[in-house]
Formats: sequence, C-alpha cells, structure tokens
Amino acid sequence: MNILFVASECAPFVKTGGLADVIGSVPKALEALGHTVKVLLPAYPALKQWIKHGDVELELEDLFGGPARIVSVRAKGINLLLLEADHLFDRGGSIYLDEEGYDWEDNALRFGALCLLGAKIGLDGVGGWKSNVINAHDWQAGLVPVYLQQSGRKAPPVVMTIHNIAFQGLFDGEIRETLGLTEGLYTPDGFEFWGHVGFLKGGIALADKITTVSPTYATELLTPEYGMGLEGLLRSRQTDLVGILNGIDLDTWNPEDDPSLVNTYSPRSLNRREANRIYLEQHFGIEPSEDAPLFCVISRLTTQKGLDLLLDSIPTIIKRGARLIVLGSGERHMEENYLAMAKRFPGSVGVKIGYDEELSHKMQGGSDAILMPSRFEPCGLSQMFGLRYGTIPVVARTGGLADTVIDANAAAITSKCATGIQFTPVTVEALDRAIHRTCDLFKDTKIWKTMIRKAMAQEVGWNSSAEVYANLFKELTKE
Ligand code: ADP
Ligand code: GLC
Repeated sequence: MNILFVASECAPFVKTGGLADVIGSVPKALEALGHTVKVLLPAYPALKQWIKHGDVELELEDLFGGPARIVSVRAKGINLLLLEADHLFDRGGSIYLDEEGYDWEDNALRFGALCLLGAKIGLDGVGGWKSNVINAHDWQAGLVPVYLQQSGRKAPPVVMTIHNIAFQGLFDGEIRETLGLTEGLYTPDGFEFWGHVGFLKGGIALADKITTVSPTYATELLTPEYGMGLEGLLRSRQTDLVGILNGIDLDTWNPEDDPSLVNTYSPRSLNRREANRIYLEQHFGIEPSEDAPLFCVISRLTTQKGLDLLLDSIPTIIKRGARLIVLGSGERHMEENYLAMAKRFPGSVGVKIGYDEELSHKMQGGSDAILMPSRFEPCGLSQMFGLRYGTIPVVARTGGLADTVIDANAAAITSKCATGIQFTPVTVEALDRAIHRTCDLFKDTKIWKTMIRKAMAQEVGWNSSAEVYANLFKELTKE
C-alpha cells in the first residue's frame, strides 16, 4: 500500500515536540510491514541541504504569493516530499513562531499551502507515485480533506490524526478566499468554527477516519474538559474515532547502543548507569546522594505539562533529600521560576533552559525517575523513553500516560508488574504524595530494581501500533 503522510515536523530533521518523533518513526515501521510511505513536509531552512540530493517532481508558478516545487528525496531512511516555497518557509525564528515568539502572521497560508499540495498529490500523484491513503497529522494538515472534497474528484481516503487538540489552527474567516476555499464547505459541518476557518475542525469533520495517539485520550476527547470545544463534533464522529498508542524509535532510543551516553547499559548491567548519573550531577552542579532519587524533567515548560505544580512540590523533593534536574523551554515566567528554584536550592536543583537533544538522552540514561505531572497528555513520549532507559516514570493518570505506565500499587508490586508511579488528581498534594511514594520505593532496592527491569522490558516500539494503522488504512482502501 502507498501511504502519503502530511505533517509539519519530522525528526531528526525538524522537531518541536513528540509529533516529530512520531512522523520520523512510523514510516519506518510501516515500511517494515511492506508498505511505502512518503512524508510531505515543508522545506524549512533545516531541510534545504537535502534539496540538492533530490528530484524535482512538480513546479508551481504561484503558491500563495511565490513559486513552489516538490522535491523528493530519501533521507535518513525516510522518503521525503519537500515542499519548497521560500516565501513561506525559508526564514529564521522557529517553524511556527517569529523571532519575537509570536505565531507567524501568515501561518494560515504556510500550512494551507501544505494542505493544498497534500491534496494535489493525493489527487494526481507525484513523479508517477500515487497514494492509496493519506494520513494528515494535526491542524497543520487539517485542510487536506477539505481541499479534496472541494475538488469534487475521486480522492484517496484521509485519516486525520490528532496529536494535541489544544492546537486547532483557527484563523479569521476572511482568510478563506485567499486559501482558495469556496463557501460550500464553510459551514458548521465543514471547516467553519464560530466564524473562523478551523484547520483541525475541517479535518475532523471531513476525514474518513480520525485517530488520536492513545486509547485513553480518545475517550477523554469526547468530554468538555479535554475536547476544547470540539467534543460535540468528535462525539458525532465517535464511531470513526480510534486511539492508537504511539511507539518510539527503538534504534534512536536504545540504552545498549546510545552514543550520547557516558556508559551504555542493559538490564543486566544497571550498575553501569552510575557513570551517567555522576555526569549529570557534575553537569548540573548537583550533590551526590545514595539514598534518594535523582528526578528529571525533559519537557516544554507549559501549563499543559503541569510544571507549574511541580514548582510547588520542589520543597517536598528537597525534604526527602532527593534532587531534581530540569531541561526545558517554554513559557517565560515558568523558565524564570525554574531558574529561581535552582538558585534557591543549589546542589539540589539544576536547570537548563533550552532545547538539547543530546542532553535529553543523557538525562534518560542517568536519572532515577522522570516526572510528568501533565494536566492532559495525548500520548507523551518521554515516559516511554524513560521506560526503555529504566528511568522510572512518575506520571499523572491521564491520556497516554495512563496507558503506558503500570502504577506501583500493592498488587502490582506483589505480582512484579509495576513500571512506574501514577497519581490523580493533578494537584500539588497528589504530586507530593507521588514524590513520597517514589522516594520510599527507591529505598527498597529490591523492589526498585525489579521495577527498572520490568520497565526496560516493556514493549514501547511501533510493532503492534504500526499494524493497527496498517489495518485501518487497508480497511479504508477496500473498494
Ligand atoms: P510534546 O510533544 O507534547 O511536547 P512528548 O512527550 O510527546 O510531548 O514529546 C516531547 C519530545 O520533545 C520528546 O522527544 C522529548 O525528549 C523532547 N523534548 C522536549 N523538551 C526538550 C528539550 N528541552 N530538549 C530536548 N528534547 C526535548
Ligand atoms: C503531542 C502531544 C503528546 C504526543 C505527541 C506525539 O505533542 O502533546 O502527548 O506524545 O503529540 O503524538
């Protein structure tokens, strides 16, 4: 089967979060099952170097104000279809935000262009290749089924995947005409959302199937608490909505063969983790300790991630003699608050503001536990990296966190199946209790080691989920 992915990020080329990890890893898993996947991705500056190795498949004189090309290239094991349109994508700042940290003013056109080309490739193919099915990811790809439907032509079916419903791609209704969208589908059943053009709204309304990235999030999305205004629409499409748990790339994230680690290790050589921990203590200026864990956070610093709550729980970490290291960037006040904590608790709290892929691997390879007190978490990948690296996840019981971590309650400890600590509700008090439980478990070396081994043995790759996607695609392509 030929599958076209349309997405705005893809690791290792361009990444702001877990979406990129997923787009960079599912295609390989689907290829292993015998399918061909091509990923349509904007040619941001980071992708430019690949253009010269590729083949120009399509040229357009004008795509929303400038020329554009589609260049196909196989890069790092992934078939990329790069949308080169310099007036839209060749600029500094981040892929979504300008240098001042605001959304690019023309984001509707930038990602509208991505959707338009996704639809065009779906309809006409590219370089002789035609897709049997299209998988559109997040709001940036939400208009693909809208353009397809507007064409009135026979088109491949579309699966819309929601990675995070908090980001919906809402724009002033006036942009509709510039995007080349007619009034026909600009209705509550189409891509109109309270007088706005809704990219994700349109995708959910008009795709053939909708997936999201964990079974629990699929049920949460139907409630006002999590659905963020789209719960009604999602309820109306409930029979077409399915939660498929993400996996992680087991080659990129492999403690037995990770070039970023001071020491690689396996479940049989856990003592080799010590050198990794010592590195982290030195790097973050943290005092060593034998009898309390080293907690880490690797995250966007946002309220979604509940990291404002963790600020209030730091005194509990300190009281227990535990330590905390933080790598992240995000909301400015949160960054400042974490830096202030590092100042207030020198030797116990270390903070690095920024994005650092290599350090994130080192932290997974040397910390004892990873904290994720998320208010909502569609899937979450960091807890899965944690499982794979034997860094015990301490997580809020929500979304994919609920689906991937087995809480160390009495029964789970007795039957030796616990892989982490879950807590609910998402409050400072519950988080405090989870920190206490983690510190208690850590002191019981036998239980702790059993948990680590169980965590490291947990299946977190793409094998089973890739098959679920493939079956869904097959079901849709049956005439
Ligand atoms: P989300 O996509 O909501 O941010 P996920 O847990 O799905 O959350 O994925 C986050 C990804 O981003 C993981 O690969 C994680 O390691 C990475 N990450 C987040 N913050 C940083 C950072 N500051 N430095 C390096 N990697 C980071
Ligand atoms: C989003 C979600 C995260 C998920 C990722 C990949 O960024 O916030 O929970 O893991 O997408 O699907």
